[in-house]
Amino acid sequence: MPPDPLTPGQLGPVLLRNRFVKAATFEGMSPAGVPSPALVEHHRRLAEGGVGMTTVAYAAVHPDGRTFPDQLCLVPSAIPALRSLTHAVHEAGARVSIQLAHAGFFSKLRPADGGLPRGPSLTFNKYGAASGLPLARAMTVAEIEAIPGQFAAAAELVAEAGFDAVELHLGHGYLLSQFLSPATNRRRDRYGGSPDGRMRLPLAVARAVREAVGGRLAVTAKLNVLDGFSGGAGVAEAVALAGRLDAAGIDGLTTSGGSTSRNPLFLLRGERPLAAMIAVERSALQRVALRVLGPAVLRTYPFEETFFREPGRELLAHVGCSVILLGGVVSWANAVQAMADGFAFVQMGRALLADPDLVRRFERGEAQRTRCTACNQCIAAMDDGGVRCVLDDPGGRFVLRHPA
Ligand SMILES: Cc1cc2nc3c(=O)[nH]c(=O)nc-3n(C[C@H](O)[C@H](O)[C@H](O)COP(=O)(O)O)c2cc1C
Repeated sequence: MPPDPLTPGQLGPVLLRNRFVKAATFEGMSPAGVPSPALVEHHRRLAEGGVGMTTVAYAAVHPDGRTFPDQLCLVPSAIPALRSLTHAVHEAGARVSIQLAHAGFFSKLRPADGGLPRGPSLTFNKYGAASGLPLARAMTVAEIEAIPGQFAAAAELVAEAGFDAVELHLGHGYLLSQFLSPATNRRRDRYGGSPDGRMRLPLAVARAVREAVGGRLAVTAKLNVLDGFSGGAGVAEAVALAGRLDAAGIDGLTTSGGSTSRNPLFLLRGERPLAAMIAVERSALQRVALRVLGPAVLRTYPFEETFFREPGRELLAHVGCSVILLGGVVSWANAVQAMADGFAFVQMGRALLADPDLVRRFERGEAQRTRCTACNQCIAAMDDGGVRCVLDDPGGRFVLRHPA
């Protein structure tokens, strides 16, 4: 008998009260990199709403690994606020994870040495172009070899702040995904060339983090089950990576895909929130670019429930660790089906932004599914004072709250 999604589940060393995990959705609540009281309240509310575990999104493991200045950065001064956050979540009976990330070249900031953003190979940096950083350079071997230590130090820091788990961000076109994908890694040294070479850095990161906090905190990885664009990595490479991560002692693997810079709607599916994105864009040039190029550049993908289920089942067939289904989980029936498939947990992003108390409502038999419509306007809300579901805005659609 597959487990009832409302029963406790073990994730490595950590027991969760049920099988529902809030996926990382960038909160936009850490001005200048410092976690705010709003961030604490956001996660407290999700914990009160019944999730087994919530996930703090997109925390940079090092100041040079940030995408933009208002991104949570894991330096010692962030600990007191993070401690209040973990305390508030624990008081409400849930566990709390944090996503450890490094942006690689996907950045509009100069590293501390004043040079260019950097990733596996020389590349055009579309994201940094409007900030005067249109180019990114290839990392030196010494720079690459410093990365596992940065992830391990960040993991130690969040352990001190009371987190129960860390989620290594291996997807969406950030540093570790840039190394994994043949589209962005054109190196010919031991960190590129073959699938083994491209996996070398992500695996070194996983081992370093396991060594630092494994057995105390659950260590999971969010990975691309496929890149979803031509020249990117496919399911076979994801299965090979999953096997190696499993062998390295990872506790869980979460299904995702795509690249924030190349096909951002691939990992979401649903509507293209162009009008809302234009409304929050501060740069006039970028607003024009979005208006003119947005419809051509931002390809849409129709929404489907549990859209990474099939590649997720491929992972299940090849690993012994927990596999966590993410992507279009919107209903009680989706969670029941996931348990029957063998997934250990489900993660939900937009469904829980729309209905932070969805799990309580499942428990009470008051709801069967979320009210989220995959309008994706929550994406724009991140840059408008903090992520929210726009169904709560007047008229049920995005209304700019904090004009630039
Ligand atoms: C507003 C918003 C912000 C997001 N921020 C992040 C993030 O910081 N890190 C990440 O890995 N994924 C992020 N995602 C992707 C989600 O974690 C998830 O992969 C995606 O929403 C699909 O899951 P869902 O169908 O349950 O929403 C974000 C998604 C949304 C809607």
